[in-house]
Amino acid sequence: MATLELQGELQQAFTKVHQPREGAWSGHITMAGGAQLQVPLPPRYTELTPEETALAIARAKERLGSRLVISGHHYQREEVIRWADFRGDSFKLCKDAAARPDADYIVFCGVHFMAESADILSAPHQKVILPDLHAGCSMADMADIDQVEEAWDALQEVCAGQRIIPITYMNSAANLKAFVGRNGGAVCTSSNARKIMEWALKPIDDGGAGGEKLLFFPDQHLGRNTALLEMGFKPEDCVVWNPFEDLGGQDEATLRRAPILLWKGHCSVHGTFMPIHVDNIRKRYPGIKVVVHPECIYEVVTKADAYGSTEKIKHIIEAGQPGEVFAVGTEINLVSRLAQENPDKTVVCLNPNVCVCSTMYRVDGPHLLWVLENLLEAHVVNQIVVPEPIASQAKLALQRMLDIA
Ligand code: 13P
Ligand code: SF4
Repeated sequence: MATLELQGELQQAFTKVHQPREGAWSGHITMAGGAQLQVPLPPRYTELTPEETALAIARAKERLGSRLVISGHHYQREEVIRWADFRGDSFKLCKDAAARPDADYIVFCGVHFMAESADILSAPHQKVILPDLHAGCSMADMADIDQVEEAWDALQEVCAGQRIIPITYMNSAANLKAFVGRNGGAVCTSSNARKIMEWALKPIDDGGAGGEKLLFFPDQHLGRNTALLEMGFKPEDCVVWNPFEDLGGQDEATLRRAPILLWKGHCSVHGTFMPIHVDNIRKRYPGIKVVVHPECIYEVVTKADAYGSTEKIKHIIEAGQPGEVFAVGTEINLVSRLAQENPDKTVVCLNPNVCVCSTMYRVDGPHLLWVLENLLEAHVVNQIVVPEPIASQAKLALQRMLDIA
């Protein structure tokens, strides 16, 4: 198992997973501290053909009827997303699940932090299920609560007298959202980062949080791209906090001066897109439109024609003219789907090497079928439950985002 995945599982230690009734197959084991490991599926699920799996999912979904809602992030594989009642980016999915309070079960086909947010925002009777407990996010794992608390204490001391507002990207564990909630900050996603960052720095009298500076984590690139391209800040206004160095690797004067403090985290999938890819694709397809996700580095985003969340990327391609050619800088499952769903346009991946999110990829047809068939037997497996007081504090930060965005 890759080290990052293991770290992710350990970091999720505060998240509990409900046990099914005694003696039933649970599909997970409990580690010290409460972290969960996905155990292999019973052989039946791996022995079915893809067609048999699809047929069985269709039957289970039909039998569960309105008690079930399936949410699917745009990065999910075709064999999974085809069953989703809601598809979207992380902001849309966060709102959509709340629109089905009648459903008892929300099967969240995405990654762990998304399922946690769905649990926090769903009604008390609803159970949120993640088909594979190993579906984490390596970027979310790049900030852990101890490191953030340590950074916060150091910054309060060095920047005494300055109000700092913490902003966490949706791609973070629930305990980080809770930290942000109890310290007056908000969550943001790639579709509303500007609004949230502006709110953080706006005076309290104008409805803002009254911050003189903000600490943005865990994705330095979304923070930097938003600050420089949408808010008028200069590169020298943005300072990177490296959690593995004393004072984040900065001196005290720099920390006091900079209005934007960016956590040193990134997405390994979007980090594979380089400026050379943009140059090469423009040579190959003159007139091509390059559209990328804001988790890409600044040098890529500035070379692109447009950027935005996965939902925005989808809208940009759909709104294109017949015959238009697009290069898309994001996860390959979404790029392939956009190519298929827009046959009147040409859609290619910006990076010729496939950029797959290996954790999103963990959710597959067999895992989806396994959780659904357990639900038919009234066994709730892989339930994601964020305990109190983490849930209430994280909800504060999520609700601020929903109110502002
Ligand atoms: P979106 O909110 O744009 O879907 O992004 C989520 C994500 O994890 C991108 O890597
Ligand atoms: Fe996390 Fe990157 Fe995968 Fe998005 S693409 S879920 S940020 S690892």
